[in-house]
Amino acid sequence: MNIDLTNKNALVCGGSRGIGKAAAQALAECGANVTIMARGAEQLAKSLNDLDKSKGQKHQFQVADFGDLSVVRKKIVGLLSAQKFHILINNTGGPKGGAITEANPEEFADAFSKHIIASQILTTLLLPGMKADDYGRIINVISTSVKEPIAGLGVSNTIRGAMGNWAKTLATEVGADGITVNNVLPGFTDTDRLRSLIDAKAKARDVAPAVIEKEMKSAVPMGRFADPAELGAVIAFLASPAASYVNGINVPVDGGRTKSL
Ligand SMILES: NC(=O)c1ccc[n+]([C@@H]2O[C@H](COP(=O)([O-])OP(=O)(O)OC[C@H]3O[C@@H](n4cnc5c(N)ncnc54)[C@H](OP(=O)(O)O)[C@@H]3O)[C@@H](O)[C@H]2O)c1
Repeated sequence: MNIDLTNKNALVCGGSRGIGKAAAQALAECGANVTIMARGAEQLAKSLNDLDKSKGQKHQFQVADFGDLSVVRKKIVGLLSAQKFHILINNTGGPKGGAITEANPEEFADAFSKHIIASQILTTLLLPGMKADDYGRIINVISTSVKEPIAGLGVSNTIRGAMGNWAKTLATEVGADGITVNNVLPGFTDTDRLRSLIDAKAKARDVAPAVIEKEMKSAVPMGRFADPAELGAVIAFLASPAASYVNGINVPVDGGRTKSL
């Protein structure tokens, strides 16, 4: 089975922490040259240092805030003047939790911009290089809420549905160029994002975070949270030559928690 990514260049958004960092590590282990992008330079530098370089891979980081997409565009254009990208991981911080009845319109607009419009800009910038090299893998880190909305994540549920449809539409348009587009749907994954959601829920119910954690784990057939590396492995597989005929799908990596097929 060919999971070798030597001479492939990957752009991993949100690659400094959590699932993005784990994806960057797995892609680097498969031989890819990885560019990680996020807001915090210090954490990016630390995470860059952790990437595998044993096969001569060349890694770099780029500071960018999805809150200002004109700057993101400029920075990507700058990177593209030096190299093409064959793999794009669309990923960033999740929207703030809360009931949909309490969400204000600005929160929807902000999340739409940081998730869908950011992915659209990055994809349109990277597609010509993917087409020229006859290799493209676009992988979007979304959520199981694409299949089953999650209580207390009103804005997130809404945006994830839009992202799922954006990705499926894109997959039908670029498949003939040998470019695949797939979504990874994380279940409860032990990252900063999960810990802050647990703390917020605990505060709202005036209970200890351990109570919330226990309840969440009891909803997972495997009885535990995912290690981010378990998400990274699936992302790296989808990015590999071995996954060449996997296109336009949603892959839950959730320990079996999602009840729908
Ligand atoms: N963890 C879970 O259980 C879980 C479950 C379902 C879905 N998800 C979704 O999966 C995605 C990744 O989750 P995660 O748990 O890995 O999150 P995380 O630990 O919070 O990491 C988010 C990454 O995105 C970067 N980032 C955040 N805001 C950004 C911005 N405005 N511009 C550029 N980069 C930004 C962060 O770095 P900086 O802060 O330095 O920018 C970091 O590298 C999110 O959409 C999340 O909602 C997670």
